[in-house]
Amino acid sequence: MQIISTIAELRTRLTTERAISFVPTMGNLHEVHLDLMRLARKHGSCVVASIFVNPLQFGPNEDFERYPRTLEADCAKLKGMADVVFAPAVNEMYPENQTVYIELPPIANELCGASRPGHFRGMATVVLKLLNIVQPQVAVFGKKDYQQLHIIRQMVAQLNLPVRIVGGETVRAADGLALSSRNQYLNETERTEAVFLSQTLQAMRQAIENGGRDFERLRRQAVEALTKRGWAVDYVAVRNRSDLLPASPARQDWVILAAARLGNTRLLDNVEVGIGA
Ligand code: PAF
Repeated sequence: MQIISTIAELRTRLTTERAISFVPTMGNLHEVHLDLMRLARKHGSCVVASIFVNPLQFGPNEDFERYPRTLEADCAKLKGMADVVFAPAVNEMYPENQTVYIELPPIANELCGASRPGHFRGMATVVLKLLNIVQPQVAVFGKKDYQQLHIIRQMVAQLNLPVRIVGGETVRAADGLALSSRNQYLNETERTEAVFLSQTLQAMRQAIENGGRDFERLRRQAVEALTKRGWAVDYVAVRNRSDLLPASPARQDWVILAAARLGNTRLLDNVEVGIGA
């Protein structure tokens, strides 16, 4: 496994590769990332992982400075899983002030985008840069960040990028909690409570599968149930899977998405429901 920090060296290393499978990350790797690496291996003979904490996707009050940087431990975890790790410094990715951004569809300002203005614009901009730098045939992203994956798919389709986007299933703990690097911030009581988020989404899914189509009532009940137990709910939403717009009862492929804070920790989860789920 080679660890490369410059774009020029990476391009030279990858010139002869014909089946590159790419997993972009911000490091602080855990089981979810390793699962994406295993998926990437199925799609390419050369697996590249990037580790880059992207300042563009953090708001002024977010934790860019405090975001864990664990390059050595990350590389140890990637041994045998990645052929190349691309770990550039900020001034390698942004040698000058970045003034060119991707303009995203309105959905980028809803759901997580509503409480994190500019987040998806910064995320999409770095993903586009990374795809241009690595030029993979396949790139793998987790479904846990469902809105992020949707926006990337839109960007790739509408800008005709020559890459196939593969979504990795959400990895869950035995009790159903979606695995996330944020889970490490939960204390013991919060960790026990945290599973209630996925249970709430599963209950909504069950209700929809049983024929429930009053999505607004289901949404309100979920928010009430979470709030009663001390969660600060950012959103619970039932959306169409294809465009992430509010769920239309005439369709049958939906996703239920939620973000809510337990103490100081913001947790995200989603479940697909209906046809093909
Ligand atoms: O999901 C992430 O870790 C980041 O948003 C990504 C896709 C690596 C872009 O910085």
